Amino acid sequence: MDTYVDSREAWNNPTLAKKGEARLDAAGKFRISVFGIGYVGIVSAACLARDGHDVVAVDVNQDKVNLLNRGLPPIVEPKLAERIRSVVRAGRLKATTDSLAAVSSTDISLVCVGTPSQDNGSLETSFVSRVAQEIGESIRNTTNFHSVVMRSTMLPGTMENIVIPILERTSGKRACQDFGVAYLPEFLREGTAIADHDDPGTIVIGVDNDPLTLRRLLKLHAHFSAKPCILSIRGAEAVKYANNAWHATKISFANEMGLLCKAMGVDSHQVMNVLVADKKLNISPAYLKPGFAFGGSCLPKDISALRYAGRNADIDTPLLDAVLQANENQIQSAFRLITATGKRRVGLIGLSFKPDTDDLRYSPMLEIAERLIGRGYQLAIYDSNVRLSRLTGVNRDHLTSRLPHIACLLREKMSDLASFAEVLVVGNRKEFLKNSSILKGHDKIIIDLVRIAPERQTGSDYRGICW
Ligand SMILES: NC(=O)c1ccc[n+]([C@@H]2O[C@H](COP(=O)([O-])OP(=O)(O)OC[C@H]3O[C@@H](n4cnc5c(N)ncnc54)[C@H](O)[C@@H]3O)[C@@H](O)[C@H]2O)c1
Repeated sequence: MDTYVDSREAWNNPTLAKKGEARLDAAGKFRISVFGIGYVGIVSAACLARDGHDVVAVDVNQDKVNLLNRGLPPIVEPKLAERIRSVVRAGRLKATTDSLAAVSSTDISLVCVGTPSQDNGSLETSFVSRVAQEIGESIRNTTNFHSVVMRSTMLPGTMENIVIPILERTSGKRACQDFGVAYLPEFLREGTAIADHDDPGTIVIGVDNDPLTLRRLLKLHAHFSAKPCILSIRGAEAVKYANNAWHATKISFANEMGLLCKAMGVDSHQVMNVLVADKKLNISPAYLKPGFAFGGSCLPKDISALRYAGRNADIDTPLLDAVLQANENQIQSAFRLITATGKRRVGLIGLSFKPDTDDLRYSPMLEIAERLIGRGYQLAIYDSNVRLSRLTGVNRDHLTSRLPHIACLLREKMSDLASFAEVLVVGNRKEFLKNSSILKGHDKIIIDLVRIAPERQTGSDYRGICW
C-alpha cells in the first residue's frame, strides 16, 4: 500500500520546471481554493490563511459566502470566530460562489464538501462529483499545474473511479501530467477543530506518481510536529475509514464494558483508567496487525464468561458477541483460501495457538486441521514445539489420547512437510522463516495467515489472508 515518493523529483522534472512551479513553490506560500464552507472547509480555510497562504473559500450557499466575507463564522466552533476575523481583515481569506474564478486564481484546490450517507448506507458522492466537474472545467484553459486535493471522506477507489475520470473528462487533461491529484484525509473533531488542526495527531497524504503535488502538501504541513505518512491514494482513503471505525469501536467497547461493570457492581471508570494505563498491551500497536484468528486458553474462554455474566444480568453484549463471530469468520476465511486452491494435500506450519508455546487449547490452527480432516483432505503438520519426540508428560498424553487423529499427522522435520504438501498454510511466522531455506525451490501454493513478508502480493502461488 505504501508508495513513498521522493519529493525532490519535482525539482528535477524539466516539464514541471518549465511551468515555473519550482519558482512558485519556493516561497512556501500558496494560493489555495477551499471548496465547501462546512465544518471541515471553514477550519481548513481559516487555518491555512492564518499560516500565511492566500485562501479563497468556495460554496454554493450564498449566505455562508456573505457571512464569511463579513468576517463572521458560518458555524459554531471554539476560537474560529477570532481566527476568521483576523484573516479576513488581513485580506488573506475571501469567499465566493464562483468556482471558475477561484480555481483560475489559485494553485491548489482543497475539496471539503459533504459525503453523507444515503438511505441504504452507501456514500453520497454527488457533491464531490459536482465539484470535480467544476474544477475540471476551470482548469481546461489554465496553463499552471493545478493540484486537486480531496479532503472529503470517500471510500477507497472513489478518487480512481469517480473523481479522477470526471476531472480528466471535463478538463481534457491528464491527471499527474497536466494537473495534480491527491487525497488528504481530515481528522479534526468538531468542538476541538482548531486545536486539532494546529496540533494534528496524524497527517496522511495519499498520492500516486505526482511529485509536485506531494511536495506542495509536504510544504503546507512542514511546520507541524507530526511527520506526514505518505501512502497511495487508495491507502489514504482507507486510513480515514480505519480511523473512524476504530474510534467508533473504542467508544462502543468502553460503553459495553461500562454496562457490564455496573451490573457486576464495579466502577467502570476505575476499570477503564487502569486499562488505558497499560501502554504495552492496551494502548499500543499490540494486537492491531491484521492476520489470523485468536485462540489460546484465555481470550475465547474469558469472552464467553463475560457474555454469560451479561446474559445473567439482562445485559446485551453485541460487541463481545461480534468479537467471537468475527474470529469464527477469520477461521472460515482461511479455510476457504485453502479449499479454493483445489489441492488435496495440505501442510500446516504451526499448530499451537501462537509461536513459542506448545499450548493447543482453542488453537485456530487446530480448528483448521479438524475441518480439513472432516472434509477428507490429506494433512501433514509441522510445529517444532508440538513434536511427539519433544513433548513430555501431560501434553504428550493429551495429544496421543485426546487428539490421536492429529498426533499421527505431526511431522518431525519441515522437509517432511515440504515433500508431502501441495499447499502450505503458514500459521506460525517464526517456523516459516526459520525453515525458509528448506522450502525454497519447492513448487507450492502458500496460504499466508501471518504476513511472512510485507512485499509478497497475492497471486497464483501466494495468497495472503488479509493482504
Ligand atoms: N465534520 C467533521 O467533523 C469531519 C471530520 C473529518 C472529515 N469530515 C468529512 O469532511 C467532509 C465535509 O464534512 P463537513 O462536516 O464539513 O460537511 P458540511 O455539510 O458541514 O459542509 C459541506 C459544505 O459543502 C458545500 N457544498 C456542497 N456542494 C458544493 C459545491 N458544488 N461547491 C462548493 N461547495 C459545496 C455545502 O454548501 C456545505 O457548506 C465530509 O466528507 C465528512 O465526512 C468531516
